[in-house]
Amino acid sequence: MGSIFVLSGEDYTFPSAEIRALVETYSPSSICENLSTRIIHSDLNDTNLISKINQRGAYCRFGGWLLSKGSSIEQLSEIIGSETIETGKTFVVDSETLDRPICADLGALIKAKTNASVSLENPDIVFQLESTGREMVLGMSKDGLKTFTWRQRRPRARKFFLPSAIFPKLACLLVNLSRVKEDEYFLDPFCGTGSLLIESCLMGVNTLGFDLTRWIARGAQMNLKGFSIENGGVVRADSTNSHLPLRFVDAIATDVPYGRASSTKGKETKTIIKEFTKAAAEILSASDDTLKRSKYCVLMRPSEIEFDYDESAFELCEEHFLYVHRTLTRAISVLRRRS
Ligand SMILES: C[S@@+](CC[C@H](N)C(=O)[O-])C[C@H]1O[C@@H](n2cnc3c(N)ncnc32)[C@H](O)[C@@H]1O
Repeated sequence: MGSIFVLSGEDYTFPSAEIRALVETYSPSSICENLSTRIIHSDLNDTNLISKINQRGAYCRFGGWLLSKGSSIEQLSEIIGSETIETGKTFVVDSETLDRPICADLGALIKAKTNASVSLENPDIVFQLESTGREMVLGMSKDGLKTFTWRQRRPRARKFFLPSAIFPKLACLLVNLSRVKEDEYFLDPFCGTGSLLIESCLMGVNTLGFDLTRWIARGAQMNLKGFSIENGGVVRADSTNSHLPLRFVDAIATDVPYGRASSTKGKETKTIIKEFTKAAAEILSASDDTLKRSKYCVLMRPSEIEFDYDESAFELCEEHFLYVHRTLTRAISVLRRRS
C-alpha cells in the first residue's frame, strides 16, 4: 500500500515539496501524490527509507507505511490482528486532522484485537489516523512519536551568533530540498554562522561551508564544534570565484547575502547570485556521477531581488515563498543541474 507522510500544516508549498524531495533522494523512481493538503501518499514501501524520511522532514509530523483506507474505524482496523504488535510493545493512536474521541475509539479496537497496552507519552508503535476530506487513512510507524530538537540549536543557543542566522527548521528544509544523502558532500557557499552546516552534519552528510569574512568563518567552525560535529568544516573563501576545485560536491543549498543583516562587501545580491550560479554549474557538473542522479542547488533570497542565474546550466524546477514580515518575503528557488 506504500507510505503516508503527514505535514505540519503551515499554509505554504514547501512542506509538501520537502517530502517529495526526500522521496526522490532515497527512491528516485517512487511516485508521490497529495491525498489532501496535509497528507502525501507515496508508493515507497521500504521501512528503513520511510523512517529516514520521517526523521529528516522538518515539516513532517508523521511518516509510516499505509495500513488501510476507509470510511469507518471498523473498516480501517480490519487489517489489524494479534500479530500486528509484538508482545510487550506499546502503542498510541495519534492524529493531526481528527479529534481525540475517534482516536480513543480506534485505540480501544486495536487494544481488543492485539492485547497491547497504550502509552500516550512513549509508545513503541504509532498508528496515525487522518482524514483526507474524502475518506480516512491509517498509517503505522515503529519509530515512536516524533520529537523535534530545534530549540537546542536555535541561533541564540549557539556559541557564535549573528542577526542574519536562520532557524534550524528552515535550515533543515533547505538542506532537504538539495536532495543530499548521508555520506555525500554538501556545500553552503555563504554559510554565515553555519545554520545549514549544523543540520546537514547532523544528518550524517559530509559538509563544507564558505564565508568571505574570516571571523565569521571561524565563528561557524566554533558552532560546529559546539555540537561536537566532526564531519564538517568551514573555510574563508569567495564563493563568487568560479574556479573553486569542488567537483566532489553533490549538492548545494544557501541563504544568499543580501546586505540587510549580512555583508555583501559592496556587491549587489543579484550579481552575487549570477556569479555564484556560474561557479555552481562547474561544481555540480555531473560528468563523474556514475549513478546519473540529478544534482541540485537551492538558493534562498528576498523575493524582491531579481533572480538572474545561468539558464543554460540550470533548470528552475521549484520556487517557494515564505512570508517573514511586512518588508521581507523569502523566495526559495530549487535549481536542477542540466545534464
Ligand atoms: C545571509 S548570510 C548567511 C546566514 C546563514 N544562513 C546563517 O544562518 O548564519 C550570508 C553570508 O555570506 C557571506 N558572504 C558575502 N559575500 C560572500 C562571498 N562572496 N563569498 C562567501 N561568503 C560571502 C557574508 O559574510 C554572510 O555571512
